[in-house]
Order: sequence, then C-alpha cells, then structure tokens
Amino acid sequence: MLLALSHPVFSLDTLAATPPMGWNSWNWFADKVTDNDIRLAADQLVASGMRDAGYIYVNIDDTWEGKRDASGVIHPNEKFPDMKALADYVHSKGLKLGIYSSPGPQTCGKYEGSYGHERQDARTYAAWGIDYLKYDLCSFSDVMDSAGIRDLDARDRMTRAAYEKMHQALLATGRPIVYSLCQYGFDSVWRWGSAVGANLWRTTGDISEHYDRIVLIALTQSGLGRYAGPGHWNDPDMLEVGNGKLSHEENQTHMTYWAMLAAPLLAGNNLTQMSDDVRAILTNREVIAIDQDRLGREANLLFQEGPVQIWSRPLDDGGTALAIFNIGTDRAQLRGSDLHVKEAGLPSGAEARDIWAAKELGRIGDADPLVIPSHGVVLLKLTPK
Ligand code: GAL
Repeated sequence: MLLALSHPVFSLDTLAATPPMGWNSWNWFADKVTDNDIRLAADQLVASGMRDAGYIYVNIDDTWEGKRDASGVIHPNEKFPDMKALADYVHSKGLKLGIYSSPGPQTCGKYEGSYGHERQDARTYAAWGIDYLKYDLCSFSDVMDSAGIRDLDARDRMTRAAYEKMHQALLATGRPIVYSLCQYGFDSVWRWGSAVGANLWRTTGDISEHYDRIVLIALTQSGLGRYAGPGHWNDPDMLEVGNGKLSHEENQTHMTYWAMLAAPLLAGNNLTQMSDDVRAILTNREVIAIDQDRLGREANLLFQEGPVQIWSRPLDDGGTALAIFNIGTDRAQLRGSDLHVKEAGLPSGAEARDIWAAKELGRIGDADPLVIPSHGVVLLKLTPK
C-alpha cells in the first residue's frame, strides 16, 4: 500500500512525454472567459482539426474562482456554473480540461488562490475531472513579506517548497494532472522545476501579441535545452499566433521558434474567428512533428550573421531541423555555402526539405539561394543521405 502511494500508477514522463499541446483562455479572453467560451473553444478544437493535430488540453486560466464554503472547499464563480459538467463536456469531445491557481492567497487577477488549501484544492480539481494545473506565483511574495522573510535565498527556498507542496497534493489525488509552474523564470527555475514535479515551467515573463516580444523571449531560451526533455519542459509562454497584428511571416516565425524549442504549444487565439491562414500555421503537421519529436532535444542558436539567426535541433529519425530566421527589416538571401555546414556541425551532403513551402530542395549545397522575408523564417528538415 505504501509502495503504491509513493509510486503512482502514472509517471511524469508519460504524462508529458512530449510538450503539452492545447489551448488556453488567457491570451484572448483574459478575465472575461466564461463556461460558454470554454465549450466553444472545445467545439472549435475539434471542428478546426486542431484536436486531431494534437491540441488536446483546453485550459481555463485565471478568473474562474469563486469563494470557499464553510469547510474551505473552493467553488467556481458565476461565470462557471458547474465545473464537473464542463469537464464532462470537454472530455466527451476527446479533450482534457485544465485549470489555474496560485500558491499565494490570491491569484494575479485577485481571485482566490490555494494558499493553505493545497490538498483540498487538488482533491476538488480531481473530483471535477481536471487534467492540468497552471500554478501561478502571484501573491506568494506577500506571504513571504508578511512573514518578514527578506533573505533572497530563503525566499527562493520557500517558493520552491510551495511548488513542491502542490506537487505532493496533486500526487495524493491519484489522478494524472499535468503540473505547469508559472513563476516567470525566477531563480533559474529550469534547474529545479523537475525536482518539484513540474511537467513544464515558464522561463519568462508574459508574452504579448507583438513580434519584438516574441523574438526577445525566443532569444533568451538558447542554452536552456539541457534542462528539458520528456516529461519536463521549458515553457516560453503560450502562443499568440493569430492574435494582434502579427503578419503571416510573424505567425510562422512564432510557431517555428516554439517548435524548435520543444515548447508547449498552447494556442491563445479566438478559435471561433480563426482565419484559414492561422489554422494552417497552427496545424502544420510537419512543424508539429518537430515540436513533438520524441528525442525532446531543444534547439540551440547555432550562429547569427547580422539579422539572420540559425537554430538547429537533432531529431529522433537522425535528421536535423534547421530554422533560419530573419529578424531584420530587409529580406535576406542565403546560399548553401552561407550555412557553413562543416563549421556548424551540420550533416554535409544532406537533402533539405523546406517545410513551410512543402518542397524538396535537394542537396543543401546545390540548392537555389534561400530567400527569407523580413520577420520571416525558412524551416528546413535535413536528412543525411
Ligand atoms: C500572469 C500569467 C499569465 C496569466 C495571468 C492571469 O501572471 O503569467 O499567463 O495567467 O497571470 O492573471
């Protein structure tokens, strides 16, 4: 019996063997999200083909929380009349339901957090049928402030302990619940996230629907790959593909960076108003296959030449994904020789496929020059011959 408790029937590695994929309410709906929005998102994940492409989790972000009753049990607010019924609906579509809370007494939106109720909340989530928890630091710093903890090391230790506490609470439910840490990358979380049971941990502050922000986040991910792999992933935040004024090139760039980074793919757009172009970008099977590659090896920045950045990632089938980003304002052109195949350690004589163009290019050395539009990307799959 004891053995069964300390070794749950599921393992973290199989729970998120590849980076989690789905949709989250925050980037589009923010604090306005309702039960009906979640149901419509679930419907659209199915209708758009996203579910079949791998987008399985439907995640409710902040502002679902209501009050606790006399026994301390959390209830949803009036926007979410019946969480169990909502979970049943989402499950009936072949999808999974995620929820959000904080280790502090209040969430970032000033709703009820889990502080002092961790076990109780985990049990409630499990009883509702929740499959994923995003646990957002928010007011936990107030807890440390009021306890008079000023020492930075002590604060880091307390924060880690708070995340471990919810990890234990989730395990104790016996229900497999993906555990997502959100504390903006503080305290080099990539070094200890998996030790507190996280399947993913945010490595940055919040994303926004602006190209510059997306690129800045991507650039700060290089080198973090050694901490990620099957079961535990770096999370550079949810996707903004299809939001704001992002152009076709910028949406492709965003999706490509995230796929190269083995990042969780949590779409954040309004699925009921998705253009065909955005749907095609989000559901490109070959790009998703790179993100979900079983090796789980994140890309690194190979080299940069002015505004052109080249990232590469080894794949399970022996191939290499090579992404050439142009973050400048003018188009860029590259010949095979500009890739410095040998110095870069790329397979020489490999055959290249242009993934977004869905076109075989032949041997990289012989191919026509690649043209990368401003803010665009060329994503190649190299296969050694
Ligand atoms: C932020 C978090 C966002 C979103 C928001 C909700 O701290 O980074 O992703 O969850 O809180 O209030």
